[in-house]
Amino acid sequence: MKARPIIFDTDPGIDDATAITIAVRNPELDVKLLSTVGANVEVEKTTLNALKLTEFLGVDIPVARGCGEPLIRKLRPCPEVHGITGMDGYEFPPVTGKPLEKHAVEAMRDVIMNSEEKITLVVIGTHTNIAILFRMYPEVKDRIEEIVTMGGGLTGGNTNSTAEFNIYNDPHAAAMVFNSGVPVTMLGLNVTNEARLYREDAEAIDASGRAGHMIYSLLNHYRDAFLDGGLRIHDSVAVAYILRPDLFKTEMLPIEIALEGPAAGTTVCDFRAMQRGEKEANVKVVTEVDPEGYKQWIIDEFRRED
Ligand code: BDR
Ligand code: CA
Repeated sequence: MKARPIIFDTDPGIDDATAITIAVRNPELDVKLLSTVGANVEVEKTTLNALKLTEFLGVDIPVARGCGEPLIRKLRPCPEVHGITGMDGYEFPPVTGKPLEKHAVEAMRDVIMNSEEKITLVVIGTHTNIAILFRMYPEVKDRIEEIVTMGGGLTGGNTNSTAEFNIYNDPHAAAMVFNSGVPVTMLGLNVTNEARLYREDAEAIDASGRAGHMIYSLLNHYRDAFLDGGLRIHDSVAVAYILRPDLFKTEMLPIEIALEGPAAGTTVCDFRAMQRGEKEANVKVVTEVDPEGYKQWIIDEFRRED
């Protein structure tokens, strides 16, 4: 079977690191590029972290540095969640490589236009790079299979009571992407909050080998590590969805992103307007996950040989 070509647009980030590590090690996926954005921490740090990961994993995947600031709003990073480096908790060797000379938007364009097969964009940070990509190079849209994004939700936020972090940081960019005409699958907090790992699961990841130990060490520094309620590794759920759609349920729903006011960054789903025929569904929304299946899946992924 031919591996599915993907680009990660990412802000590593401890849960980003988990998602990337799983994807890079899975032969069903062909990771063509890591394009970085500033969000969890500043873009200099997320870019360095992406390089730390590719070098640790021993893979030749280019890293391209993207936007450091949202389109309009001011960035609100969260080092309290991921640590001051964005990936606190593991001593990576000093990085020897460099990001590409070109900007992430240019790098994405080149990968997308030069790929024989359509690319899947896995967006696990803010949507700033993708909004600019679509504005500068609209021709890429036809060459994208799907955008799978971790962001938003149907049941409340994690940055404030209604907005999720990735959408909150750049709602204008997210709105451009959601309304771009490219098929978007939104995997939000309503699902990632249900996909939890517990201490024994994390210990199984630790025992699985070198990659598992690295991720376990980072997870120990992740803000809600090992609270009794379980650990939410949001971005890794997006990779689970791509590889194991059988673990999820989806529904086409009308999603609008609030751009102004105290609820800015909220993904508003107007079910009633859809039922009344006043709004059309525009986004495939992941609505359910099989939590047990997800837990087993993630442990099995780390049990692949290093
Ligand atoms: C999202 O916000 C970031 O902190 C995580 O990396 C994830 O992409 C969860 O809301
Ligand atoms: Ca992220």
